[in-house]
Amino acid sequence: MPVAHTGAAVRGVPSAYGPIHCHRHRKQLPPGALDFSAAGHLYATHGLHAFAARCPPPLARWAIETFTDASDIVLDVMCGSGTTLVEAALTGRHGWGVDIDPLARMVALAKATPIDPAAVDELAGRIERDAPATDDDGWRPALDRLDYWFRPDVAGDLARLRHLIRTRTAEGPLRRLAWTVFSSLIVGRTSVANARDLVHSRHHFREWTEDPHTVERFVRALRRAGRLMRDFAALPPSGHPAATLVGHDARALTVEDQTVDLVFFSPPYVSALDYPRAHAFAVAWLADVLGTTPAAYRAHARDYVGSDRAPLAAATPDQPLPPPSGHTPVDTVVAALGSVPERAWVVARYFTDMTAVFAEAARVTRPGGHVVAVVCPSNIRRVPVPTHEIFHTLAPAGSGGRLVLEDHHARTIHDGRRVMPYLEAKFGERMREEYVLVFCRRPDPPGRG
Ligand SMILES: C[S@@+](CC[C@H](N)C(=O)[O-])C[C@H]1O[C@@H](n2cnc3c(N)ncnc32)[C@H](O)[C@@H]1O
Repeated sequence: MPVAHTGAAVRGVPSAYGPIHCHRHRKQLPPGALDFSAAGHLYATHGLHAFAARCPPPLARWAIETFTDASDIVLDVMCGSGTTLVEAALTGRHGWGVDIDPLARMVALAKATPIDPAAVDELAGRIERDAPATDDDGWRPALDRLDYWFRPDVAGDLARLRHLIRTRTAEGPLRRLAWTVFSSLIVGRTSVANARDLVHSRHHFREWTEDPHTVERFVRALRRAGRLMRDFAALPPSGHPAATLVGHDARALTVEDQTVDLVFFSPPYVSALDYPRAHAFAVAWLADVLGTTPAAYRAHARDYVGSDRAPLAAATPDQPLPPPSGHTPVDTVVAALGSVPERAWVVARYFTDMTAVFAEAARVTRPGGHVVAVVCPSNIRRVPVPTHEIFHTLAPAGSGGRLVLEDHHARTIHDGRRVMPYLEAKFGERMREEYVLVFCRRPDPPGRG
């Protein structure tokens, strides 16, 4: 429904804009328009660090270019590894990011902050030169079974690299980039840890039978980071606007009302990925850098949207199943999981959290702006969870009517990065389709701020 609103009073809306019509941007897209093949996704710094369930950069770019103008503010409330922030910089927008995961925040900022490639090369050269004369200082992270997960020579090399990064860089973007490259040695399909895959949550022991040459890998990866920075800097516009981190929790944003032009984000799937488990080793090695401890990081894991940790925390003998939320599509799925209470609680909690996320996204978006969510449905114990359809009504309800569904696009997932091989066995079906939900932000109803 079009909503009459005089644009002149609203930031970023020229008076010529006239009344805000929520369907102004409605676009008929040809089938497959948002499919983007996997090719060509790793330009600029997109390939700097592995991250589970990354958003394809062209999808972020499509949303940014469709719903904002140069110099606008684009906020990703679950920015993960920073795809949206990089694309905001590459399109001349101000990218703001929020993520609950401290490793993700560091990676996102490192990827979206251009650095002089010569300085990166120079640092790589210095570390290569100084490493042989640098002793292992004996520092080790507080990690259970450290010797099982890291060969002693690998742990020694990681300790030496930590020392070299601290002593050869000053606080700032170059040091952050170096820590991000350090983390990428651990969080990766070919991690230097004794683990098969530390990108996704279910890693398995895979022993290095010979030294993986951690320092040499680091130097190579840092040189590659320098090349990625060169690509980034060479892409227009020149002088990319700086990206900024503006908070930690999408359910409680520390951003003023009506300040952003677009919220673009892809929330986690229900119960599918355990980021704290995937990142645990890297965070242990970087805990002091990230301002946490391994124990605090673990304790925080249940605050992640979609977490299946402590599922029964809110259950009581009198309330073994989640109480009705009042939102029928959610309650229907929760009821279908009644025979597996811990899954029912996980799903109920996910949608409660996402209600808060949409309410906050609506609050911080200016009237006439947009909230775009990239969403994947899933199956839990073979019960379909049509997350995208549930969001059609949950976002408007959760935002007190501020969000109106403007468009809904299906896209086929072509890039293997978004398909979790382990999930196929667990949930019985590959997630091949995801949905791009476009909500328009209406003005607040009179009397509500
Ligand atoms: C699907 S990933 C986003 C990936 C991102 N679009 C990218 O391209 O890298 C979902 C992100 O949500 C974050 N997250 C989970 N719970 C959150 C919360 N309560 N507040 C903010 N971020 C949260 C996770 O840490 C994860 O980085």
